[in-house]
Amino acid sequence: MSHMKKTILVTGSSGHSGTQISELLKDAYEIVGVDLIEGKFTQHIGSLTDKTFIHALTKGVDAIIHTASLHAPHVGEFSRKDFIDTNIVGTLNLLEASVDNQVKKFIYTSTTSLYGESMESEEQAVWVTEELPTIPRDIYDITKIAAEGLCRDFFDKNGLQTTVLRVSRFWNEPLQDRIFYRMYRGLDVRDVAYAHQLAIEKQFDKFDVFNISAQSIFSKDDLVDLRQNAIGLIQQRVPELLTYFGSKNWTVPESIDRVYVIDKAKRVLGYQPRFNIQEMLAEL
Ligand SMILES: NC(=O)c1ccc[n+]([C@@H]2O[C@H](COP(=O)([O-])OP(=O)(O)OC[C@H]3O[C@@H](n4cnc5c(N)ncnc54)[C@H](O)[C@@H]3O)[C@@H](O)[C@H]2O)c1
Repeated sequence: MSHMKKTILVTGSSGHSGTQISELLKDAYEIVGVDLIEGKFTQHIGSLTDKTFIHALTKGVDAIIHTASLHAPHVGEFSRKDFIDTNIVGTLNLLEASVDNQVKKFIYTSTTSLYGESMESEEQAVWVTEELPTIPRDIYDITKIAAEGLCRDFFDKNGLQTTVLRVSRFWNEPLQDRIFYRMYRGLDVRDVAYAHQLAIEKQFDKFDVFNISAQSIFSKDDLVDLRQNAIGLIQQRVPELLTYFGSKNWTVPESIDRVYVIDKAKRVLGYQPRFNIQEMLAEL
């Protein structure tokens, strides 16, 4: 007799991360996908803002991975109210439906963007751990912070096992940006999916928040140099990057403003990103 697979509801299942997460988890779990638009893993088309629809969707679900969101590129294009409706009310609808339907776990895909102004410093690069205060710069940050707060409230008051993954950049942006960011503020979408898998498989006894990024090649001792003379440091750590940029005639930025720190995710989740700068350069 085979054991029944657990069911995971993935929101934003037609999106970049939602697709990758569904692909990774589809053999071990029953994936139910919901999105506004069609996609390989999307069985339900509709909006998070539709409370009745969300309530019905969460029946029989064991865990939720909530990636759907209006995000950075939508700022300006959508109103503040749209951001609040999708990111805050949409998340609240999912959390309330989870309690009503005995969903056990809830992974929220958040963003390192919400450290906002805390990452601005002229003298030295900022060492971005989960302890850094969140100082939102726009309605995107504001709504992601609020949604994280709701997640925490539902863990504390309703016993829903909520966990937040503050993911860094994984856009399909120009290759030179992806390479450069991979040293300190970006990651491969496959590592995004892998972090979600780890969070789904772990039992948490309290609400927690984790930065998720590639492994940076910089340390705390590098912060002043990163701001003042990044190229010198890159020359020491990954000279291949300078060679590659040179061969393409791409300009290497002279200053790096931050380092995303993933020590907590490594320690608590066992996260070991697999697509770091060395691997990325080796593949090219
Ligand atoms: N892409 C990045 O670099 C990045 C960086 C940091 C954090 N994040 C976070 O990761 C998450 C996923 O990002 P992504 O790049 O995979 O996004 P994406 O835009 O590729 O996918 C998001 C999906 O959510 C869907 N969606 C939006 N509003 C919805 C609604 N009201 N109801 C149902 N579905 C809705 C969209 O149709 C889309 O398919 C987001 O929460 C974002 O804040 C992304």
